[in-house]
Amino acid sequence: NWGEVPLAPPDSIFKLTAAYKADPFPEKINLGVGAYRDDNSNPWVLPVVKTATQILLNDPNIDHEYLPITGLPQFTAAAAKLILGADSPAIAENRVVSVQTISGTGANHLGALFLSRYYHFGEEGKKVYLSDPTWVNHFAIFRNVQIEPVTYPYYDAATIGLAFEPFLETLRTAAPRSVFLLHACAHNPTGVDPTREQWGKICDVILEKNHYAFFDCAYQGFASGDLVNDAWAVREFVKRGVPLLVCQSFAKNAGLYGERVGALHIIAPTKEGADRVKSQLSVLQRSEISNPPAHGARLVALILNDPALFEQWKDDIRTMAHRIIEMRKELHKLLTEELKTPGNWDHIVNQIGMFSFTGIKTEASLALTEKAHIYLTTNGRISMAGLNKNNVRYFAENLDKVVRG
Ligand code: PLP
Ligand code: LMR
Repeated sequence: NWGEVPLAPPDSIFKLTAAYKADPFPEKINLGVGAYRDDNSNPWVLPVVKTATQILLNDPNIDHEYLPITGLPQFTAAAAKLILGADSPAIAENRVVSVQTISGTGANHLGALFLSRYYHFGEEGKKVYLSDPTWVNHFAIFRNVQIEPVTYPYYDAATIGLAFEPFLETLRTAAPRSVFLLHACAHNPTGVDPTREQWGKICDVILEKNHYAFFDCAYQGFASGDLVNDAWAVREFVKRGVPLLVCQSFAKNAGLYGERVGALHIIAPTKEGADRVKSQLSVLQRSEISNPPAHGARLVALILNDPALFEQWKDDIRTMAHRIIEMRKELHKLLTEELKTPGNWDHIVNQIGMFSFTGIKTEASLALTEKAHIYLTTNGRISMAGLNKNNVRYFAENLDKVVRG
């Protein structure tokens, strides 16, 4: 009767959404899951997605046939250009393998599975170096394919910034050919990204040690509001010849969370290598999902390939990124100028992307949930997108209370 199956705890992020939904308290706030909300705390269907949906509805050629195993070609080709640049020499040289995946999670999984099967790991064996902290799901994704996750120093609690030297030191001391997972931009959960100069030095050591860069890019556009700017690190590493792959998600930047639109891009040194990689990715994909879902990929393909829709999308991304930046400013102002909350809160405005790592302790996070119906992960991360003009004051006042103890 399955008595031997251990009972697992609920997912640390999605359980917050469930608890929030079940809570009848009118002022409740969900700052748990990283999902964009408008000023009324509602999900936001991007106007460009509405337009694209209408176009698809009116297209007599749309059917419900299977896509190819590696996905919709118009989607994967445009997605590669979006992250690597339309003028990327790697694309021109046919060295980029792009496979449509079940959003960013599926890209992480397929990339990890491929490495587990075919990568020549260094003498430490099948390990992946993850930033401390990272998106919690990374641990489960790699364990699932028999790659042991270990961590590298990333976040310095004392400065609420990047632990740059310890990070570099781990890159230097790891066995050659180690795999390092890097957040391409808008680091989850800390909101702390390396500067361009720091990326350059990270790249130097990765090249020296012949490491592999496993880029996870779930927030292109969310860091700065600019798609090209947010792709800088990935493009720089490709330019400098780092062996790498990129996991790409359209959940956040296109607001297509539940449609599961993503891609895995593996940059090979030669076209011949790329062809081999693609053949094996197809074999893996076939046994796992057979072929990816069509609807979301069609929407994104339309948006990426039509210049007018693409411009509209960029506007929509700016709307989201700028509203989040406004909320950072507003929260910072309330805490520092009005409430005079003890401590330094400058990191709220300095951190980048969807999340802010407030620096509050576990007990304070729990108190916010228990006393004020504010849902957040116990590590003190808040999804900035859950704050708006109507609830930011309620949040600031309660944060102030728990900080004062
Ligand atoms: N990687 C990171 C760092 C994330 O924060 C997320 C969450 O959105 C993902 C990957 C994957 O998300 P999805 O599978 O919804 O695209
Ligand atoms: C999050 O970290 O809240 C998001 O990335 C959603 C998820 O899948 O965990």
